[in-house]
Amino acid sequence: MRPLLKLMAAITVATSAFLPAALVNAADGARHTPASDMKAQHHTMETIGREWRKIGKALENKDAAAGMKATDTILRAAPNIEKFMPHRNPDKRDRFMDYYGMFLQQLIEFRTALAQGNIVGASAISGEAEKTCGRCHALFR
Ligand code: HEC
Repeated sequence: MRPLLKLMAAITVATSAFLPAALVNAADGARHTPASDMKAQHHTMETIGREWRKIGKALENKDAAAGMKATDTILRAAPNIEKFMPHRNPDKRDRFMDYYGMFLQQLIEFRTALAQGNIVGASAISGEAEKTCGRCHALFR
């Protein structure tokens, strides 16, 4: 496996222990529980939105540790995106998963830059990642 894929797999495994029951049901193919699925994906994105604001503040304050902490919370929540059933364009699943993969990769690059104390580099990557939020929302939100 390529290192990035290996890391992504490790993150997915590490996260699965925290998955709420609704998402475990979704993983089992229980498509007849749309209400709880919607709640779960709403909750995941709320977490990502909240932590993303913390990241903005951390960059402003040049606080790499706070930035990494928020990024780790997003990395734990992000694999839930794989189970989303978007309200719009549900037929464009491949595009959705492309954006998800891009987002994960950018988060990992962002975290790496922060770990190196490279706030300027991290800020540039966060700008790119924010474009990925926007692209995915434009089609699927
Ligand atoms: C792979 C696609 C994708 C990416 C990437 C993505 N989002 Fe979302 N986001 C969605 C979808 C789909 C919804 C609608 C979820 C719902 O309401 O069921 C959403 C909803 C939201 C919401 C509203 C929460 C709610 O449901 O009330 C916020 C806030 C949000 N996203 C923030 C972000 C931020 C910030 C980023 C990037 C750092 C991001 N998202 C990246 C797909 C994505």
